[in-house]
Amino acid sequence: MAKLGKFEKEYLKSAEKTRTRRMKWWHEARFGMFVHWGLYAQLGRHEWVMNRERIPIKDYEALADTWKPKPRPAREWAQLAKAAGMKYMVMTTKHHEGFLLWDSKMSDYNAAKRGPGRDLVREYVEACREFGLRVGFYYSLMDWHHPDGARCAKDLKARKRFIEYTQGLVRELCSNYGKLDILWYDVSWPLRSPHEWDSYRMNAMVRELQPEIIIDNRSQLDEDFGTPEEHIKAEAKGRAWEACMTFNGSWGWQWAPPEDWRSVREVLNMLRTCTAGGGNLLLNIGPKPDGSIPEEATERLTKVGQWLQNYGAVVYGDVDRVEHMEWLPTGTWTRRGKTLYFWCARPPGDTLVIGGLTSKLVSARLYPDGRPLPFTQTSNRLVIKHGLKDCPDPIAHTAVFELQFKSVPKQVLGAGCVVLK
Ligand code: GLC
Repeated sequence: MAKLGKFEKEYLKSAEKTRTRRMKWWHEARFGMFVHWGLYAQLGRHEWVMNRERIPIKDYEALADTWKPKPRPAREWAQLAKAAGMKYMVMTTKHHEGFLLWDSKMSDYNAAKRGPGRDLVREYVEACREFGLRVGFYYSLMDWHHPDGARCAKDLKARKRFIEYTQGLVRELCSNYGKLDILWYDVSWPLRSPHEWDSYRMNAMVRELQPEIIIDNRSQLDEDFGTPEEHIKAEAKGRAWEACMTFNGSWGWQWAPPEDWRSVREVLNMLRTCTAGGGNLLLNIGPKPDGSIPEEATERLTKVGQWLQNYGAVVYGDVDRVEHMEWLPTGTWTRRGKTLYFWCARPPGDTLVIGGLTSKLVSARLYPDGRPLPFTQTSNRLVIKHGLKDCPDPIAHTAVFELQFKSVPKQVLGAGCVVLK
């Protein structure tokens, strides 16, 4: 890694200084909607279709004129996001295909000048505001359309032009739409370092224009949060992270049989895993070319939202990471201080038994109704007589137990059953 100069060091220091304050709402929000929408939606074969099928630029460009989305579909996305219990959105303003979804002065290959005939980013921002959602912009650094997008790897003049173009676009996005909450860079091919991308300067400009903004880690700088993709894994302690997940294996609109869409239970399980690791979940929808939401997504997200209306307090807000707990066949944990929530995904008869806990239980309640549950606890067995015949939750079929301990518990089970003296 190149040695950092004064400018770079100061940039990192000043971003660090405000990080806790800037990130507070985001940590508490937990759940956001990713929206992948662009020319590729018309082909319905994943947003990488141009690259995967080697579609010549000239042929692909024709899609810019045939794209005729219906009026204001972003309102439907925002409405659904709200109903689903999501607190923020991130939309692709420019994906790898290079088409700009806003009215740009930098290039005519944009939504206002071509088929759609209007600024789709503006519509999106307005919809987020209308529904009280925080606003995120996705921006792909990689560009398959711009003549310097690949050439910049070796040709220094091309690089200079491409960096100017990139920073010009980012500047427009950060200047023309009021307050932005998230900048979500993606793929930084083909340049190999933040110096080649001029990322320090670019992000310093972003922060000057948008002092409260949160930036992801894909401009080859760590910035504010990590972005595990299509898997959920907590980053090192102290580092913010957000898992981004597709709904059916494709980010852009692509038909898939209903079984390939994540079920309500799967979505809630993802949300639980993120919560347990102190991370966020950014779940994607890929609207159809006209902007409408695939019905599988609507149906599932609506139920997720109904579930969150009852159980939201377990998910949102300040949570703590779950550590030192072992696997159980009946469920898993989330935690807030000394209170643990046991998400019982396979409720067992009328009694729940948990082995190996190191701390004393103070109270057991069913969540959210708060009904106290009788329990006994010996040195290594906690037995809760919940007496439930059916799972109280008809949406996710997961019973949640709120267990308050004397101190933060650990669980020690290991592999054997006999304690060797
Ligand atoms: C990958 C893909 C891209 C998608 C992104 C979302 O980087 O290249 O198509 O937008 O993941 O995280």
